[in-house]
Amino acid sequence: MQASADTLKSEVRSYWNAQPCGTQFTSLPWGSREFFADVERGRYASHPFLPEVAEFKAFAGKRLLEVGCGLGTDLIQFARACASVTGVDLTPQSIELVKTRFALEGLPVDARVSDAENLPFADESFDVVYSFGVLHHTPDTERAIREVHRVLKPGGRIIIMLYHLNSMRMWLGTPLHRFKQLLETGDFRKGAEDWIRVYDGAQNPLGKAYTQRDMERMFAAFHDRKYSVHHPIRESLPPIVSAVSQRLLAPWCGFFLVIKARK
Ligand SMILES: C[S@@+](CC[C@H](N)C(=O)[O-])C[C@H]1O[C@@H](n2cnc3c(N)ncnc32)[C@H](O)[C@@H]1O
Repeated sequence: MQASADTLKSEVRSYWNAQPCGTQFTSLPWGSREFFADVERGRYASHPFLPEVAEFKAFAGKRLLEVGCGLGTDLIQFARACASVTGVDLTPQSIELVKTRFALEGLPVDARVSDAENLPFADESFDVVYSFGVLHHTPDTERAIREVHRVLKPGGRIIIMLYHLNSMRMWLGTPLHRFKQLLETGDFRKGAEDWIRVYDGAQNPLGKAYTQRDMERMFAAFHDRKYSVHHPIRESLPPIVSAVSQRLLAPWCGFFLVIKARK
């Protein structure tokens, strides 16, 4: 790996280690039962489509790997429904919290600090690989997708979400972001890429977004590729606006593009 990709990856690790994804839903001290309950409530209030899209109850008895499991909120849903679960994340902080969370519920988990681009598993180890909002944060996304393919059993399934370039957020937000940059810094050239990056916070070092056509190319080694589009609910929006936007807009121009496919 080039030094610049190495540096970028260590910036990605530091960023997410300092604020594991999901901690934004609560102000409680990290690691308590109440903390995890708050995180879980916040996640499925803002992502109500997730239980169905991720098929939490569909993998009893299957070996499931989550790449970039964050606090393990989705991972524990699969485990509660009797999947045998493994979670990896780049950050030690997330993995510590995942272990605490599973211990609190007395559920087994193999949770490891690992890099999606170099998964520490033998070929054909898993029946399912799930990853939600992760692979667009790693410098070499295509390498990570090859790793997913490698560790999946023949016939195994993927459920993976990447940010969606053909989305309302990009169409409306990019020109506004450029204009804001122009007013603040006199330089409007920080365009779409910068706008994707700041979705996860102003200091987030890396975020990318893809079209369905991009994903057709990136996931060409998988079969039966199917896509769906979703958008999280912003609590600041009036419920009626959220309801209309979830029903009418999210399915075609939401910011989350999900691929489901088989090896
Ligand atoms: C936006 S959070 C999503 C976490 C979780 N999937 C969720 O939806 O709450 C991105 C996560 O990806 C992880 N990540 C980024 N690059 C990674 C890599 N190369 N390998 C493993 N995890 C990575 C980060 O540490 C962070 O936990």
